Amino acid sequence: MADIRILGISGSLRTGSYNTAALHAAVGLCPEDAEIEIYDIGGFGPFNQDAEQNPPENVVAFKAAIRAADAVLFSSPEYNYSVPGFLKNAIDWASRPYGDSAWDGKPALIMGASPGTGGTMRMQYHLRQIMVFLNMHPLNRPEVMISNCAKKFDENGTLTDEKTREYLRQAIEALVHWTRRLSN
Ligand SMILES: Cc1cc2nc3c(=O)[nH]c(=O)nc-3n(C[C@H](O)[C@H](O)[C@H](O)COP(=O)(O)O)c2cc1C
Repeated sequence: MADIRILGISGSLRTGSYNTAALHAAVGLCPEDAEIEIYDIGGFGPFNQDAEQNPPENVVAFKAAIRAADAVLFSSPEYNYSVPGFLKNAIDWASRPYGDSAWDGKPALIMGASPGTGGTMRMQYHLRQIMVFLNMHPLNRPEVMISNCAKKFDENGTLTDEKTREYLRQAIEALVHWTRRLSN
């Protein structure tokens, strides 16, 4: 088993999602001493604070998976200049009840792909703001903003753009390095 375990979370449920495809590319570019497990966050109901003391099974399992991971990798689209609602919903579930957040202290890397020129930058800065309260430790650099993504993946969802592949490989390496630094 690899000694650094990374939980990969996609912010898109779309079949053919570029962001999920980017996560799959990251799995293939991961160094040998680390591994990325992609976790499906599609099944959560809307967060209701009435249920936070006794959350649904899938939330309990999600929190356990976050806790078992050494780091988190988010790959998300930007929706209306921000974090997709269902991703924020999953983040909220795993952050509660107060004092029992699964996110506390986790190193993280944020990446995102968009067909336009912004490369999800506004979503990424909103996610960073959320991480302040969660006491997560996102890497400052590199920032992985995959703009004009339709040209960088083929019709099967394979990341074909060599520059982006190399950048992503270096970003995952940086996350592994960052995770080791924080655990010392
Ligand atoms: C509700 C909604 C809002 C969107 N808002 C933005 C936006 O603010 N910025 C942007 O670059 N793209 C925006 N888009 C376009 C997405 O970047 C595009 O659909 C992208 O392919 C979604 O990521 P995915 O391929 O991983 O599903 C939006 C799409 C949807 C459905």
